[in-house]
Amino acid sequence: MAFPGTGKIWMNGQLVEWADAKIHIASHVIHYGTGVFEGARCYETPRGSACFRLDAHLRRLFDSSKIYRMEPTYSFKELHKAVIDTIRANEMKACYIRPIVYRGYSALGVNPLPNPIDTAILLWEWGAYLGQDALTNGVDVCVSSWQRAAPNTFPTLAKTSANYANSTLIKMEAVIEGYSEGIALDTFGLLSEGSGQNLFLVRRDTLYTPPITASVLPGITRDSVITLAKDLGFTVREEMLPRELLYIADEAFFVGTAVEVTPIRSVDKISIGSGRRGPITEAIQQAFFDVVNARVEDKHGWLEYVYDGEPRQPAGAGTRTARA
Ligand SMILES: Cc1ncc(COP(=O)(O)O)c(C=O)c1O
Repeated sequence: MAFPGTGKIWMNGQLVEWADAKIHIASHVIHYGTGVFEGARCYETPRGSACFRLDAHLRRLFDSSKIYRMEPTYSFKELHKAVIDTIRANEMKACYIRPIVYRGYSALGVNPLPNPIDTAILLWEWGAYLGQDALTNGVDVCVSSWQRAAPNTFPTLAKTSANYANSTLIKMEAVIEGYSEGIALDTFGLLSEGSGQNLFLVRRDTLYTPPITASVLPGITRDSVITLAKDLGFTVREEMLPRELLYIADEAFFVGTAVEVTPIRSVDKISIGSGRRGPITEAIQQAFFDVVNARVEDKHGWLEYVYDGEPRQPAGAGTRTARA
């Protein structure tokens, strides 16, 4: 996906032209990966453009910042408004939303604390991450030879730039070997997640997903899918899962803001179930796309319409680290 290279980017409170949104090469984040970020989506629905669970994404951004002792210089409410303002300024109908909080330019030692905490919000159009075909026909994936970080090394509840060094190793290996994605195990050899997506398995009408202690990012889509699956009457179990359960699952699928809900049709060249999208995956996909496209009642309050008057007051917006 190449950037069109136009539009406005929000940087520390100012809207600047895409080409001018630059930082100094000596910025701490470039050398030490000291950034925390989010990836959310705004969907074009028949009722207008709507952000999906923006508050939950911003809460995770504040959580990530807190873990790394880099509280943003903007409040939750200010950043929430800044996202809506940036979408409006770019007149976007549907887009991917990337807020990032990072250590900027001042001193280049490992100690990040002397550096300023800068914030930016960029947007771009991003369709189906693994291709439109993948949503219907599924993807072929492998188990990665790279593992996820061990507990108490790189905290996975934080969505930090540094963690994506591991993700890029998983992704590159998979792509070079001819797969769409890699599934990483944790350091105990149990299932963790993909390079940029959470994992679900289905066996005998029960959904399984690794718990947040399995070195996974606590995905907003993961949480949404658990809720939707329960709404549909399925049992969902969050538990440590052995690798081989992948191969004998009736169905498997990835979830994430980028991949949305994408079926997995094979792992390590072993067909999953019938080797095509299974009925429960399809039901979850349908429920997910019905919600994000506002085709059904938004009973969990997950959609926020961008062009409907004043941005809504996010939950607990009065305090800097307010919770969504
Ligand atoms: C490593 C990783 N796991 C899971 C996810 C899915 O998270 P979410 O559903 O919040 O996009 C992502 C997406 O950014 C990710 O990068």
